[in-house]
Amino acid sequence: MKSPISSLQWLPLILFLVISTSVLSTTTATTLFDIPRLSPLGGILQDPETVLSANVSDDFETFYYNQTLDHFNYMPESYSTFPQRYVINSKYWDGANRSAPILAYLGAEAPLDGAMYGIGFLTDNAAEFKSLLVYIEHRYYGKSIPSGSSREVAPGKASTLGYFNSAQAIADYAEIIIYLKEKLQAQYSPVIVIGGSYGGMLASWFRLKYPHVAIGALASSAPILYFDDIIPQDGYYCIVTKDFREASETCYQTIKNSWSIIDEVASKPDGLSILSKTFKTCNPLDSIYELKNYLRLMYSQVAQYNSPPHYPVTIVCGGIDGAPPETDILDKVFAGVVAYKGNSKCYVNAPENISETTVGWRWQRCTEMVIPIGITNNTMFQPSPFNLSSFTEKCRSLYGVTPRPHWVTTYYGGHDIKLVLNKFGSNIIFSNGLRDPYSSGGVLVNISESIVAVHTVNGSHCLDLQANQSTDPEWLVRQREVEVKIIKGWITQYYVDLLAFSQSQ
Ligand SMILES: *[C@@H]1O[C@H](CO)[C@@H](O)[C@H](O)[C@H]1NC(C)=O
Ligand SMILES: *[C@@H]1O[C@H](CO)[C@@H](O)[C@H](O)[C@H]1NC(C)=O
Ligand SMILES: *[C@@H]1O[C@H](CO)[C@@H](O)[C@H](O)[C@H]1NC(C)=O
Ligand SMILES: *[C@@H]1O[C@H](CO)[C@@H](O)[C@H](O)[C@H]1NC(C)=O
Ligand SMILES: *[C@@H]1O[C@H](CO)[C@@H](O)[C@H](O)[C@H]1NC(C)=O
Ligand SMILES: *[C@@H]1O[C@H](CO)[C@@H](O)[C@H](O)[C@H]1NC(C)=O
Ligand SMILES: *[C@@H]1O[C@H](CO)[C@@H](O)[C@H](O)[C@H]1NC(C)=O
Ligand SMILES: *[C@@H]1O[C@H](CO)[C@@H](O)[C@H](O)[C@H]1NC(C)=O
Ligand SMILES: *[C@@H]1O[C@H](CO)[C@@H](O)[C@H](O)[C@H]1NC(C)=O
Repeated sequence: MKSPISSLQWLPLILFLVISTSVLSTTTATTLFDIPRLSPLGGILQDPETVLSANVSDDFETFYYNQTLDHFNYMPESYSTFPQRYVINSKYWDGANRSAPILAYLGAEAPLDGAMYGIGFLTDNAAEFKSLLVYIEHRYYGKSIPSGSSREVAPGKASTLGYFNSAQAIADYAEIIIYLKEKLQAQYSPVIVIGGSYGGMLASWFRLKYPHVAIGALASSAPILYFDDIIPQDGYYCIVTKDFREASETCYQTIKNSWSIIDEVASKPDGLSILSKTFKTCNPLDSIYELKNYLRLMYSQVAQYNSPPHYPVTIVCGGIDGAPPETDILDKVFAGVVAYKGNSKCYVNAPENISETTVGWRWQRCTEMVIPIGITNNTMFQPSPFNLSSFTEKCRSLYGVTPRPHWVTTYYGGHDIKLVLNKFGSNIIFSNGLRDPYSSGGVLVNISESIVAVHTVNGSHCLDLQANQSTDPEWLVRQREVEVKIIKGWITQYYVDLLAFSQSQ
């Protein structure tokens, strides 16, 4: 039996530290370049050992598709291909002859490996839907990497990274799904696309752009409105704050008060070494931002993945509130760190390998995924507004590219979404947990009869996509049931239409 603490120790791996702290320390931390990453798997991939040893593996078959590098022009070099990984589970499929459904998971900013085990929504419901399961890896992650995409691209250096974007990614998905239906002679099988987080955005956009390929989309925790100032920039951190405040008022107060005390200690001549000792850092602190960023990201992380049965916000606050009353405020904060991380030789700046995801998502953020998360003065954090100029400067120095903050809304929309989609589009579920900070950028109202919002008050990031567990609270069970029922409705209607329209031809 794993303790709740150790099962949470995977969480730090999905931390989205965009630039190393050494880079940060040379600038100011006024721009939050390092925002928590969007990831459907943060709360799921707990222990790599159990993930890899799970027995479901026999049902999954891996394939590679020769994918076109550039779908959008006809220059000779655009025709080059790369192997794109996809995985199929046909154990539950009722077959092409019966036009049985296909559930397609659209990969997000990570290798696909975890998805087959982590995204339980597909495996849990495959039998019920008698569906084929397809999982497709996002280009430039995992085993689906075009050549010429060196991980350390120098600015201006020739590379294919320009083809690393969401439009290419959903075109990849369309091509593979169409290819598969042809290969399986399943032209009339209805396809439901499913994704979480960034992958959830892709799923909803896919339904809008490729209605002839997918009859519906489940977009879990997809912050499609966190662009182009559609929502206030502090949406994310306001929810983090609310989560802590709801868990414990004293915990919230302690955290809120801790920042100025950290600054005060840091301003002493040997301040950094005092703080290094207090927080048992693995290496002497280079700068105050190293510590403050670490804490801010930890609080964000636990809020984003504040899922049952352990509720990590409660764990952190348990540490903070559990310290004896006379405890110094920084020692309380440190007790919160220890409660969450468990007993460790050292904390805060342990050496860490930068993940492929961190590197890839940094590129995506520097080009089109300009999610302007900032902190104003309404949170438990110190204000730190999003600054597009300094963000742009950093991207230019990293990659020689200039971010395009308006492109997502130009290409996919987002402004006045209810007005726009009320009479256009259909069959999209936007699911959210309102304790997920990214839900601030989610669609939380019903837009039309079949573009609907299904949210839970106490849910966290992508919780509905995770495999069901005996410990699931009733509201989570119900959320998934509602989603399944809506999807079944789409499929039933599709079969009615299929019959009607094929007879009338
Ligand atoms: C997995 O499969 C192996 C051999 O097929 C079996 O011995 C083991 O008990 C299975 N484990 C689980 C958790 O089902
Ligand atoms: C994919 O492309 C490679 C190189 O062009 C070729 O050798 C291979 O046969 C192709 N595979 C398929 C499945 O078409
Ligand atoms: C599917 O239909 C075809 C043609 O009608 C038939 O030959 C084939 O046996 C059927 N396959 C299954 C699995 O029922
Ligand atoms: C969870 O999913 C399994 C299928 O994997 C299903 O048999 C079971 O009934 C589900 N449990 C709940 C509580 O929904
Ligand atoms: C980083 O990766 C290397 C090579 O895979 C490995 O040997 C090392 O232990 C890793 N370090 C950490 C801190 O995870
Ligand atoms: C802080 O917030 C208050 C309202 O909550 C607002 O009136 C004030 O202008 C804000 N100050 C700054 C510096 O943003
Ligand atoms: C934003 O960043 C730029 C460049 O680093 C800086 O000159 C400017 O003062 C910043 N703006 C604000 C409002 O902090
Ligand atoms: C939207 O409609 C669905 C289906 O009718 C319903 O389950 C859901 O509660 C509605 N959402 C909101 C936010 O009213
Ligand atoms: C959400 O959780 C709080 C306690 O943290 C509880 O009081 C409330 O009833 C829950 N709300 C729902 C809708 O389950």
